[in-house]
Amino acid sequence: MKVLVIGGAGYIGSHVVKALLEANASVTVYDDLSTGHKINLFAKAAFVEGSILDYGRLEQTMRQGFDAVVHLAAKKAVGESMENPELYAENNLIGMVNILNAMSKSGCKVLVFSSSAAVYGMPEYLPVDENHPLNPINFYGFTKLESERLMAWYDRLKGIKYTALRYFNAAGYDPDGAVKGRDSKPQNLLPIVKEVVDGQRECLLIFGNDYDTRDGTCVRDYVHVSDLAAAHVLAIRRLLEGRPSAVYNLGTSNGVTVKEVVAAAEKVTGKPLPVRYVDRRPGDPAVLVASSKKAETELGWKPRYMRIEDIVKTEL
Ligand code: UFG
Repeated sequence: MKVLVIGGAGYIGSHVVKALLEANASVTVYDDLSTGHKINLFAKAAFVEGSILDYGRLEQTMRQGFDAVVHLAAKKAVGESMENPELYAENNLIGMVNILNAMSKSGCKVLVFSSSAAVYGMPEYLPVDENHPLNPINFYGFTKLESERLMAWYDRLKGIKYTALRYFNAAGYDPDGAVKGRDSKPQNLLPIVKEVVDGQRECLLIFGNDYDTRDGTCVRDYVHVSDLAAAHVLAIRRLLEGRPSAVYNLGTSNGVTVKEVVAAAEKVTGKPLPVRYVDRRPGDPAVLVASSKKAETELGWKPRYMRIEDIVKTEL
């Protein structure tokens, strides 16, 4: 199978490329290297440097003919999306329209999209399944939801089959060490813990310890990036078998607190991790945990990394 991975030099994209190569796919990466890294490119994959905002280049690339397209080229920082919605509207919405139009013009009929638990907003019940109401509370989540809706229309009108994978808290790195590029100015918990461990930051600021949880800190569902990558391969295969478009949550269903992440990091390094408690971060739900039963049943997906220590070990 011939697959175009848009955003294949980024954090999750490079893990998806690795999984596809291991499944003997022929892979082309399309990436503008704005946040992705050249060192994340695999020698066995072809590379086209280009932006999803460059419609001509995108369509020309797709005309090479691909069995499937994976789109992981959206901007992903929640806070930044609220401060600079123009950037997110352009990149995430216009970028998605460009990808769908280029697929329509070039005859590519299968799309796997990296969506997010951010489409749900504040959880109304737990664990969150795919039928949970869709009420994003940040602009980033809105762009993911609108992208899903665009794909649903292009399915109806153009026969482009899609799978939206709603990641919960993506974490960890390739255990073989093949993905070397790290996100600069990270915003997420695990990469920040890594910077503290490496001495690039004095301490971890923990956003609130007065939540109604077992230790007062927020509970999240951390899912290993290699497990996420495996789900993309399964999703492509399923669509190529002629199954209908679908949406899946991807999480482990294990809720882990921020303090438990810190304890796991301390266990892995054998050293105390300096932390400081500060105010809650606006918009953070106390608990966010996925039900991924649908992905298990329909995709045959089963995460291999179920323990936070094992995930943290691959991050540090
Ligand atoms: N946290 C800290 N200190 C930090 C960073 C994070 O205490 O310096 C805490 C947060 O308050 C939260 C937990 O660590 O309780 C995880 O925070 P992240 O920022 O790593 O992740 P979020 O759960 O906020 O967001 C993630 C993804 C988003 C996605 C969202 C909803 O990063 O893309 O889940 O699914 F939108």
